[in-house]
Amino acid sequence: MKTLTYKVKKICCIGAGYVGGPTMAVIAEECPALEVNVVDINDKRISAWNSNNFSDLPVYEPGLDLIIKKCRGRNLFFSTEVEMNISKADMIFISVNTPTKTHGIGAGQASDLKWVESCARQVATFATGHTIVVEKSTLPVRTAKVIKTILESSQSSQLNCKQPSSFDVLSNPEFLAEGSAIQDLKNPDRVLIGGENQKAINALHEIYSCWVAEERILHTNIWSSELAKLTANAFLAQRISSINAIGALCEETGADVREVARAIGSDSRIGSKFLDCGPGFGGSCFKKDILNLVYLSNYFGLKDVANFWKSVVDLNNWHQNRVSKLIVKKLFGTLSGKRIAILGFAFKANTNDTRESAAIHICKNLLEEGAILLIHDPKVEQSQMEFDLGSSPSPEEIDIKNFPNPLLSKRWMKVKDIKDSFINADAVLILTEWKEYSDINWGDAAKLMRKPSWVFDSRSIVNNKEVINAGLNFWRVGDGYNIT
Ligand code: NAD
Ligand code: UGA
Repeated sequence: MKTLTYKVKKICCIGAGYVGGPTMAVIAEECPALEVNVVDINDKRISAWNSNNFSDLPVYEPGLDLIIKKCRGRNLFFSTEVEMNISKADMIFISVNTPTKTHGIGAGQASDLKWVESCARQVATFATGHTIVVEKSTLPVRTAKVIKTILESSQSSQLNCKQPSSFDVLSNPEFLAEGSAIQDLKNPDRVLIGGENQKAINALHEIYSCWVAEERILHTNIWSSELAKLTANAFLAQRISSINAIGALCEETGADVREVARAIGSDSRIGSKFLDCGPGFGGSCFKKDILNLVYLSNYFGLKDVANFWKSVVDLNNWHQNRVSKLIVKKLFGTLSGKRIAILGFAFKANTNDTRESAAIHICKNLLEEGAILLIHDPKVEQSQMEFDLGSSPSPEEIDIKNFPNPLLSKRWMKVKDIKDSFINADAVLILTEWKEYSDINWGDAAKLMRKPSWVFDSRSIVNNKEVINAGLNFWRVGDGYNIT
């Protein structure tokens, strides 16, 4: 029987996604005395976490497979038994998805909290004894109040029980970035814990202090913690929109955005990180979290604040369209029947995640213009690309040289070998900064392409001289050097 001390022994994490999986794996590795149970309603995802083939894990993150190998079955468990694992946990992390609402009040801006609410109700029903509930998902400021209300309503209905359940709610937002999640989790800039009850805060603090330096574990009030997470993402995304905006200006004026970024980044007040001009930010969170901030600002009557943040997302949309439009322009105003090699589909390197990837938006624009796309990505599955772009031909329907089959309406295909994407291509468009794309031999690529051919580098990862020496036309984001 559990006692009311706050020494945590069993953790349950609800949501085995990009945050729940890696975060709990690192906690399990760093705190071998803790039992960590990660639960999810998606049984396919849980089976993948339990797969003996470690390349089948549902989340690709460098270093994650080694931790899973070490801890799974020892003190880390993945299961669909949500209720049972809630009931035995001393601490429950809510790490479920919080996407933008697609209908109803706030559609297109507010976060859809139905998964969070459903978790809170499950916790209210099945938790036993005293349980610390930790918000790990990114949530609108003041969501803790909703969670508390739901949990407290279960307490009031148990007044006659011998051992009624009781709860504390903490906010502990996650700041990991995909592709470097393990590194970020093991060596975080800070861990943020927001809450009211010092004992509960200390219990979570104790877990992190197993591997995080004391001075990096920050305590705040619960609302500051919730709002700090949205603010961090908004500030980061704002930097990207700012540099992409300047990149467009560089292309018109003969400046080079890399030089501008180096010059401003040397100012210690500005700093050098997050100043890479690219195809526009993607990922599941920046857009949704800023839109959430926009919604909240409007909700509290702060229209100008809302407009300020909205412009960060608007600029990103504009920038992605700008990239598609300039490709059409450079290819003589039409893409009809032209083959374009797309290098990279994930929203950034070192992840298999495509959520809100600039590649989706840009590929859709190019397909709309009549282009034929040969898409390569080392980690994104064909099924995910089909989810994002619509169906593509099955392998037996594919003859790369004569793709697309005129009898089929499918106009994009995934290629396994980068070289295959160059065959008869009019252009190569680099959208994700995978390391292997910076090692391409452009002399060999040029021999396979149709002349005049273009390389569009939206990530600034190829050697411009090698491309130009290979007789290819070259565009690089934010590069105005060829302006006379
Ligand atoms: P995800 O979609 O990868 O995973 C969420 C999981 O929760 C899914 O597998 C889903 O099946 C499961 N789930 C939903 N409702 C459930 C329920 N009632 N019971 C059990 N399982 C349930 O999402 P994610 O990328 O891990 O993000 C989760 C949260 O963390 C979001 O709020 C996000 O904003 C935030 N976040 C994400 C990142 C990131 O890099 N992806 C980083 C920091 C914070
Ligand atoms: C981002 C934040 O960096 C994390 O701190 C946060 O926890 C997370 O969102 C979240 O809440 O989900 P993530 O989206 O995984 O992490 O990856 P980032 O490295 O931030 O990249 C986001 C997008 O911005 C990518 O498309 C990336 O290519 C782009 N980017 C990033 C640039 O275009 N330029 C840059 O300089 C940096």
